[in-house]
Amino acid sequence: MTGRNTKVTMRRHPAAMVSEDDFAVEETDLPRPGDGQALVKVLYLSLDPYMRPMMDPVRSYVPHLNPGDVMPGATIAEVIESNEPELPQGTVVACSLGWQTHGVVTKDVVRVIDQNAGPVSAALSVLGMTGATAHYGLLELAKPTPDETVVVTAASGAVGGVVGQIAKIKGCRVVGIAGGAEKCRYVVDELGFDACIDYKSPDFEKQLAAATPDYVDVLFENVGGPVLDAVLGRINDHARISLCGNISDYNADEPYGLRGLRHLLMHRVTVHSFVIAEHRDYWPTAIAELSGWLAEGKIKYQEDIAEGLDSAPKAFIAMLTGGNFGKQLVNVGA
Ligand SMILES: NC(=O)c1ccc[n+]([C@@H]2O[C@H](COP(=O)([O-])OP(=O)(O)OC[C@H]3O[C@@H](n4cnc5c(N)ncnc54)[C@H](OP(=O)(O)O)[C@@H]3O)[C@@H](O)[C@H]2O)c1
Repeated sequence: MTGRNTKVTMRRHPAAMVSEDDFAVEETDLPRPGDGQALVKVLYLSLDPYMRPMMDPVRSYVPHLNPGDVMPGATIAEVIESNEPELPQGTVVACSLGWQTHGVVTKDVVRVIDQNAGPVSAALSVLGMTGATAHYGLLELAKPTPDETVVVTAASGAVGGVVGQIAKIKGCRVVGIAGGAEKCRYVVDELGFDACIDYKSPDFEKQLAAATPDYVDVLFENVGGPVLDAVLGRINDHARISLCGNISDYNADEPYGLRGLRHLLMHRVTVHSFVIAEHRDYWPTAIAELSGWLAEGKIKYQEDIAEGLDSAPKAFIAMLTGGNFGKQLVNVGA
């Protein structure tokens, strides 16, 4: 098959706030599938906050990117040419091709998607990594019991929205924290949280205190910074924190740090930090239960889909600064 592969690479390491100039768009010939391989075209690309820290040349849980590397990421792709009998043309798979329009895969590195089980893009959100993150971080680590108060930050987002709905299913009082009135309305009216506080509001801390009269037993933490410190001021004895993300720091010149450390000690709080990529064995359990809840209408999710691979840098930057409303995807070729 002839044609071109378009890819987005990291042009240079960003200086604090990432900009569109930190990316480059390149074209190459289409790769050729060898024996046991299939050529796929990407339908959807997932944009995720973890990609931003990977752009910094620092030690982390994965090797950092170097200039010229293709931006990484989970994708949904369709087989367009195949030398692998188990991946016939037309098969749709979840794989990790990053920010590009095409790639070559083997059957060992893909998950075949059932195209009759709803929109295939859900395999990048509620039925994929972000859903597994919500399920694992809440149920396996924080383990809330009915009637406990659960606070979720970045509550309207891909992970946060699912966390709060699972906590409601488990009988908890659930308070979200999100940026802006529209997101807070969605979190309460559509996702069914008991309350949602706008952290940009001038009396945020007062509203948080009013919404957590029995203090906070579980914090599912996605953002860090001043929002985390405000919640630590409301933390309960023997509370559990699922430390999932720290997005307020990802583009910062200087880390904000942790100012409320004493609350962790005074209230004997347990902090569970985790990276879901280390718990791949758990994903099928999470995805199976989330699929059931989705089918029963107990879980809702929202996608924010940017059009075309060229739009990926702009959509990525917007997501890191709250411009997304739900799981940020790119329609690359669907
Ligand atoms: N540990 C893991 O394995 C794992 C896996 C997946 C995701 N994560 C983490 O989970 C978090 C959420 O990821 P996601 O994919 O679900 O993204 P998301 O919540 O859909 O999008 C990111 C959201 O972060 C919020 N945000 C950005 N800057 C902020 C700031 N300075 N203060 C407060 N909120 C801010 C924005 O919402 P507002 O408009 O409400 O500000 C933005 O919409 C991220 O920290 C990510 O790194 C961790």
